Amino acid sequence: MKAVVELQGIESSYIESSYGDFFYAIAQLYKPQRIVELGTFMGYSALHMAAAFRDCPDSKTHLSLVDLWDNYPFRHCSLETTRENFKKNKLHNLKNCEISFLNKSAYDVADSFDNGSVDLLHVDISNDGQSQEKTISLWHDKIREGGILLMEGGSPERDKISWMVEYNKTPIADFLNSSWFKAQYEFVILCPYPSLTFARRIK
Ligand SMILES: C[S@@+](CC[C@H](N)C(=O)[O-])C[C@H]1O[C@@H](n2cnc3c(N)ncnc32)[C@H](O)[C@@H]1O
Repeated sequence: MKAVVELQGIESSYIESSYGDFFYAIAQLYKPQRIVELGTFMGYSALHMAAAFRDCPDSKTHLSLVDLWDNYPFRHCSLETTRENFKKNKLHNLKNCEISFLNKSAYDVADSFDNGSVDLLHVDISNDGQSQEKTISLWHDKIREGGILLMEGGSPERDKISWMVEYNKTPIADFLNSSWFKAQYEFVILCPYPSLTFARRIK
């Protein structure tokens, strides 16, 4: 299975291990009716999930894309760039995949979603263990029981990348190994760089 997405000019750490095909497959398999992505950047992961619905016209979803875009002080792009990438791929106005672009902090928008309303949450806001704990503590109740949580990172290699070490960031492994996370989620870690934690809410 290979997703057809035009990636000219699109940057993402996921590209080198072709994680787009994974996002495409998960969206096709689970057909989540409400997807929320925290950290969209140029749209690589989101484009692949939208493409899954383009190719499954009988399924329907709402894709909420949350990013700070130009308000993020580190590596970012403009919201216009992300919108253009959807247009280039003719994924911007699919009848069965409505898209909302929320130019806000992941920490400020959780309250706009009802508890148990999210079928798939993807967290990719330049994660470290502390930011993941903060994010999931805000978003956990929004994910329905049995819902999917995808989080960038999780491998030992990803915990040792230069900015994690230089800025003394809490390893993502610390959060994944916490008794709270283990009680709420079953999960596997896909290790090809940058790695991806694939979890299912069990409680
Ligand atoms: C690694 S990129 C996301 C990559 C994207 N998912 C992909 O597939 O290529 C991280 C993004 O998170 C955004 N970001 C960082 N902190 C954020 C926050 N607190 N709320 C919302 N977005 C945030 C940045 O603006 C940046 O675009």
